Amino acid sequence: MRATARKLMTYTGNSDPGHTPVMLKEVIDLLQCRPGGTYVDATVGLGGHSQAILECIQPGGQLIGIDRDKESLEKAQVRLRRHSESLRLLHDNFKNLPLILNNLTSRPVDGILVDLGVSSYQLTAPERGFSFQSDAKLDMRMDRTQQWTAADLVNNLPETELADLIYRYGEERLSRRIAAAIVQERTRTPITRCSQLAEVISRVLKARGHQTIHPATRTFQALRIAVNEELEGLEGFLSRSFDFLRPGGRLVVIAFHSLEDRIVKRVFRKLAGQCVCEAPPELCTCPRQALANLITHRPMTPRPEELASNPRSRSARLRSLERR
Ligand SMILES: C[S@@+](CC[C@H](N)C(=O)[O-])C[C@H]1O[C@@H](n2cnc3c(N)ncnc32)[C@H](O)[C@@H]1O
Repeated sequence: MRATARKLMTYTGNSDPGHTPVMLKEVIDLLQCRPGGTYVDATVGLGGHSQAILECIQPGGQLIGIDRDKESLEKAQVRLRRHSESLRLLHDNFKNLPLILNNLTSRPVDGILVDLGVSSYQLTAPERGFSFQSDAKLDMRMDRTQQWTAADLVNNLPETELADLIYRYGEERLSRRIAAAIVQERTRTPITRCSQLAEVISRVLKARGHQTIHPATRTFQALRIAVNEELEGLEGFLSRSFDFLRPGGRLVVIAFHSLEDRIVKRVFRKLAGQCVCEAPPELCTCPRQALANLITHRPMTPRPEELASNPRSRSARLRSLERR
């Protein structure tokens, strides 16, 4: 049995009952964490994946951990205090990873993990204002030093921009009707609370009949993506991070919605020298220079046991590649 697998048998990743790292075993196996290696966790969150990586890279390993959410990092720091000598935690946007790595290490790294999206802590902490189920102030900033919040978007964007945003990032077919209802409500009184916005959306969508998800799910997702500019620059970030891997080093990315996963798939195909232009073969101008091997040809999804114990993992899609 590999040392990594042995360590994971004793490590459940669930010492914090509020957060269970998604696809933990798959992540650790794919990263091929080894003692003495240097790894990056670009989305530390509450440190679930980081903890498992740190346990597999001793002695002598180093982990560089980044998150744009200061509160999460503070919690992760407490959780990971046993490993403080092997860990550098940074409050930053992962899009600055090239700059960070240029400053911190002259060597290429062995593996990079990017677990995209929001953590269950962010989603459920009422004061963070992400959830349509709470009566908190509508906020949704991952980085609370950032100025604009979801309330700023909802109260200030022109109706057509609001509708486009809800359509594009929420894939919500009734985006125009929802935007119109939001504008009508904010003319009456500013929209400041999650529950107030959820109520406006529910009124528009209740005529839709039976629904499997809460009517506000898609609109809240759209606002969250917009507030945090989650898709902007993701393609460039993934390509530039790849440059910091050593030959044989692995990039592992977990996405939670199709918009993100499409971007990850495109970057991975490009790095593996495959066509991404969708033109007929005779017109294809893709460089087709293979810099990486795809480890996952199709996205991996959580195993049934994980789905049963952590239903929040259900939308996870994991992709991995190895630098040639
Ligand atoms: C799904 S959670 C990660 C959970 C983590 N793997 C764990 O085991 O606890 C995603 C985290 O990524 C962070 N994040 C999202 N976009 C980011 C960005 N552009 N730069 C830095 N951190 C980001 C969020 O603040 C959040 O804490």
